[in-house]
Formats: sequence, C-alpha cells, structure tokens
Amino acid sequence: MTQPRHYLQFSDLDKNAYRHLFQRSAVLKRRQSAGELYRPLVGKVMSMVFEKNSTRTRVSFEAGMAQLGGHAMFLDTKTSQMGRGEPVEDTARVLSRMSDIIMIRTFEQTLVERLAAHSRVPVINGLTNEYHPCQILADIFTFIEHRGPIEGKTVAWVGDGNNVCRTWLQAARVLGFRLKVATPVGYALTVLDGHEYGPDVFEAGHDPEAAVADADLVTTDVFTSMGFEGEFAARLKAFEGFQVNAALMAKARPDALFMHCLPAHRGEEVAAEVIDGPQSVVWDEAENRMHVQKALIEYLLLGSVNH
Ligand code: CP
Ligand code: NVA
Repeated sequence: MTQPRHYLQFSDLDKNAYRHLFQRSAVLKRRQSAGELYRPLVGKVMSMVFEKNSTRTRVSFEAGMAQLGGHAMFLDTKTSQMGRGEPVEDTARVLSRMSDIIMIRTFEQTLVERLAAHSRVPVINGLTNEYHPCQILADIFTFIEHRGPIEGKTVAWVGDGNNVCRTWLQAARVLGFRLKVATPVGYALTVLDGHEYGPDVFEAGHDPEAAVADADLVTTDVFTSMGFEGEFAARLKAFEGFQVNAALMAKARPDALFMHCLPAHRGEEVAAEVIDGPQSVVWDEAENRMHVQKALIEYLLLGSVNH
C-alpha cells in the first residue's frame, strides 16, 4: 500500500507545492464564483473529527467537499466513541476504511500524528495546540490576492505566541519572508520543529511598535486559545498594551493589511476601528479557508491537477 500524503504542519509541503496550491486556489475560487460545477470527488467522503469548537473550519471543509462533489461527515468526541476512550489508532483504522480523507481538530499534535500513522488515507490538521496550517494557507493566499507575492515581505504578529503564530514562522521559512513577533514576557513563541530560524526569517521581542515597524501585514489572534480557558483572567492582564489599534497600525507601512484568523474579540486583542476598518481583510481571509482547502483536498487526493 502506498503511503498517503498528509498535511499535519505547514512544513509538510515545499515552496513548489505551495506555488501550485495558490494557483489552484485562485482557479477554484474563480470557478465557484462563476457558478461553474467542478466535481472531481463524486462519491468521496471526508470524516471530520472535532475535539474543539469551530465555525469556519467546519463550514469551509463541509461546503468545500460538497462543492467538489463529495460529502463531509461531522464527528465530535462527545457523541463518538473517541470520547469513551477508543484509541486514536483504532479510530484511524476504522475511519480510513470508510472515508477517503480525514480532517481532525484536537489538542496535542502527537494525536494527529498517531492518527496519520494508522490511516490509509490523507489526514489534514484542522488545528492543534501547536499548529494551524490551513489557516496560514488561507492567510497567505489572501495576502497574494491583495498584494502579490509574499516573498521578501514582513509580517508582524502581535499577541500570544500560539499555534497560529508558530505556523506563520514555518511559513516564513518555507516561503521566504520575515516574521516579527511581539508577545508579553512569558508568552513568547516556542519553536518546536527543531529548525534554526535566523534573523532574516524570525525576530522576537516584547514591543508591539518595534514588531509592526516596516510590516506589510499586521496580524493577531485571541489572547486565550481553546484549551487555555483557565488562564483567561491572568492573560487579560498580561496582554495589556498588546491590542492592535489604529495607533499601532499607524506605525506599520501605510499599505499594511490587517488579518485575524477569527473569532475576534473587539476591545481585547483588536480594536473595532482596525478589524472593521479599511486595512482589514478578515472576511476575505475567512472565505479563503474554503478555496484553499478545496485546492489542498484536490492535491492530496488527485495530485497536481492543472485543468
Ligand atoms: N479560524 C478558525 O479556525 O476558525 P474556527 O475556530 O471557527 O474554525
Ligand atoms: N489560537 C486560536 C485559534 C482559533 C481559530 C485557538 O487555538 O483557539
């Protein structure tokens, strides 16, 4: 049996694969908005396993599979046997005999790796505590749509050194741009993939104004990610001064874009004037989850399609 291709972290694919995926995302997006039917996945099924809440990830995968002619099935841990202790290895064996592709959102990255190791079909990471590769795929596609290639550009991250931030860092190395991060002390990004990130790729500090200086894109996320709810009050205090507001955006390049993976909390990590303002592309970013994931599913199941 040939090993399936998985997408567990951003660094699983190289620059050429991303070049293809961004091109394909644009083609599939154009087709969808023109109302053209493109159904290469008739009869194919995706199992979607959710151990955490979701709006965008669930809807984008489910809508995307339907548009490609296939079907997506929602499973959560409360109502499936995963919540009653069935090992993830057994879940992988069973799901991959009845579906063609699996998407999972869960806590530890190691669980996704165990699922993939025992699956006969491709597995996609729909967010873990460590990474959120589909989000950054959408974010970079959105950047390209608005500003062209991201190579050589500067992305500023203000806030928590979390899963989304860590995925940006992998993307910076794979695609060749610079990531500048400002987190409160104690919430810095920890690098988990063993790579050395030089200053041309990664600059970390605790000063939001220094991070956004020269940035072509300013991005942030919630102060408290899923799974860390018990730290909410302490984080609210620790993240004082880390809000992306108009004064901070004014320190970035005048044409800087603003992104947020959503859901957002206006008045906490971002001011309404920014997320609802002219530099914000958050709704394109959310919609693009669907287009890029369609391209990703096509790539994992059918290879580099070019028609
Ligand atoms: N950005 C994102 O992954 O959103 P959901 O949590 O709603 O899926
Ligand atoms: N960092 C956030 C992203 C939500 C899409 C979380 O993990 O909860």
